[in-house]
Amino acid sequence: MKKRPVIICTDPGIDDFIAMLILLQQNTLDIRGMIALSGNVGLPITVNNTLLAGELCGRPDVPVLSGSAKPLARPARSAANIHGKSGLGQSIERYSSRKPSAQDAAEFIVRTAREFPGELEIISLGPLTDVARALQLDPGIAPLLRQIVVMGGGVTRGNATKYAEFNIVADPEAADVVFASGADVVMIGLDATHQCLQPRSQIAEMTAGTELGRMVGLMLGDYADMYARVHNLDGVVIHDAICALWLLQPELFQTEQMRIRVCLDEGEHLGQTMPVSAGAPFATVAMGLDAGRVARRIVTEVQHAVNA
Ligand code: RIB
Ligand code: CA
Repeated sequence: MKKRPVIICTDPGIDDFIAMLILLQQNTLDIRGMIALSGNVGLPITVNNTLLAGELCGRPDVPVLSGSAKPLARPARSAANIHGKSGLGQSIERYSSRKPSAQDAAEFIVRTAREFPGELEIISLGPLTDVARALQLDPGIAPLLRQIVVMGGGVTRGNATKYAEFNIVADPEAADVVFASGADVVMIGLDATHQCLQPRSQIAEMTAGTELGRMVGLMLGDYADMYARVHNLDGVVIHDAICALWLLQPELFQTEQMRIRVCLDEGEHLGQTMPVSAGAPFATVAMGLDAGRVARRIVTEVQHAVNA
């Protein structure tokens, strides 16, 4: 069976790292490249963490590219308070000995979209800066993309601010370019991901005595401590891993077709993904999911990865 060509854009980030573990081990996916960009933490760190994910998953063959160091039109935000200075929690500081590919991220996306017309799927786990740059470089790729799956946004809630989710408000201008592009956009936002709060007991199921298993245990343990401290929640929402499951089992999600406009007005609504009645293309918006089956699939996939 022909493998599905996929590009991952990521800002690891603990949940990004878990999502990469899951995606890199799928025999049905042809991961053409992973583009690390500034998001949760700065670019050199997200590049390092993406290189590490490839190495530790036995996939050093997958090209890692250095994406955008800052948003299109505003200073970079940080979520180091959530993911730690290393981007992988308070307990881990690991350095890859490898270097990223010298290819330009936007040109890589355009070239790959034209190499696989109608087939390429982009999954964005961080700000949409590089996806937007590619669409600005060559707007003609929008109809060539099978889908752009975005972990981001929220119709009923925010997290970085009252109304906006981190990946969107970190680069709202980029998100606006993507949602307005006419490409098939799938928004896996907080409306769905926050329905899958995984308890600490499931973290224990995802650790192992291997090097990767110990790392995952430390990362998710720190993530759970942060969730308790910042969100007063007992457990973790592994947003990017949940988003990754859209590529594997979309039937686990309940979606609605909505016209989504990204608010660019300075103020408390900046970066809000707003349903509108006109003036914006439709997006497929996840408003629910089967939490039990999503959680179980994440646990099963991570168990396989850490025991490989
Ligand atoms: O709001 C959650 C999203 O923002 C996740 O992708 C997390 O890694 C951060 O990038
Ligand atoms: Ca992320």
